[in-house]
Amino acid sequence: MQERVYNFSAGPAVLPLSVLRKAQEELLCLPDAGCSVLEVSHRARPFDEIIIQTETNIRKLLNVPDNYRILFLQGGALLQFAMIPMNFLKNTGKKADYLISGTWSKTALGEAKTQGETNILWDGAESGFRRKPKPEEYTGNPEAAYCYTCSNETIQGVQWREYPDTGDIPLVCDASSDIFSRSVDISRFGIYFACAQKNAGPAGVTIVIIRDDLVERSPKELPKMLNYKVLSDGRSMVNTPPCFAVYMVKLVTEWLLDHIGGLEKMEQRNAEKAKYLYDVIDRSHGFYRGHADKEYRSMMNVPFVLPSEELTKKFLDGAKTHHLTQLSGHRSVGGCRASIYNAMPEEGVLALRDFMLDFARKNG
Ligand SMILES: Cc1ncc(COP(=O)(O)O)c(C=O)c1O
Repeated sequence: MQERVYNFSAGPAVLPLSVLRKAQEELLCLPDAGCSVLEVSHRARPFDEIIIQTETNIRKLLNVPDNYRILFLQGGALLQFAMIPMNFLKNTGKKADYLISGTWSKTALGEAKTQGETNILWDGAESGFRRKPKPEEYTGNPEAAYCYTCSNETIQGVQWREYPDTGDIPLVCDASSDIFSRSVDISRFGIYFACAQKNAGPAGVTIVIIRDDLVERSPKELPKMLNYKVLSDGRSMVNTPPCFAVYMVKLVTEWLLDHIGGLEKMEQRNAEKAKYLYDVIDRSHGFYRGHADKEYRSMMNVPFVLPSEELTKKFLDGAKTHHLTQLSGHRSVGGCRASIYNAMPEEGVLALRDFMLDFARKNG
């Protein structure tokens, strides 16, 4: 095997090595199935057991209350940007509230606008998307269809510490880049969703945790594959689900439960990993500059810039020779971005920290 690098990709992203090994081990023959998970019918018992176990694991990890359903859908997080307003905004005569804290919530707003009226409660664009709003900076509409937010803006590296309190208005949260990175109180949300390819598994499946009463509100006229009620009643198997991706989420959630010991432990580890990098940035006398305001810094995505494009290129090239890869920043922010999701081992972050320190010493 060629040597594995430390991969700081924002997504699809690093997976736990033991999960990849387990998948490799079981690829030819799933225990008791006599064939690969890639070959088994989604209606057959082996897959049924997989999807049930995956749901059980998620319920346990996130302490999901009984009045929430867990769906495994296709179309990525982006389809949720459209499905949410299709199901809960269109033809309701209401407006939906949006908190715009970065590229992903802005994209979600764009999709909602195709379906109905929206109201921007707060927009961080003017301040360059460096923070989340404080509660006193916005007032929710008491008649809103829902209030939408993004838990962690993957591109700008801005993360909620305390989610907004929206009272009876359903809070919708895109947790694509920080699901399973810390414990959250699911009962605060109407819908909590995440594509899998950052912290939960491979691309191809999106986890949607949705409250019962919202499911019941899905309009009958919607096509099956866009209708939460139909998808929920069909146990996410209205058509062929992304079987392999669901299976991988099962392995990742098992790793979180059995190897890590739950989300509080995971959060502790993530905080330690993030601190290593932010400390380097803060002590570099301006050589590295982080994007987000300190209070809102993400534990998952650490974007930073260097003094010049030339140095950025030199940094990225040098990092590669140290097996530290996929560190380019998103084109809208520039510079570099280290995505340090759950599966990025501490050694990987320490290797990056040491490289950053050495690079600053030699080039600062
Ligand atoms: C926070 C967030 N939301 C949504 C998306 C889009 O996800 P997908 O590509 O699965 O549609 C991404 C990343 O790709 C993301 O980071």
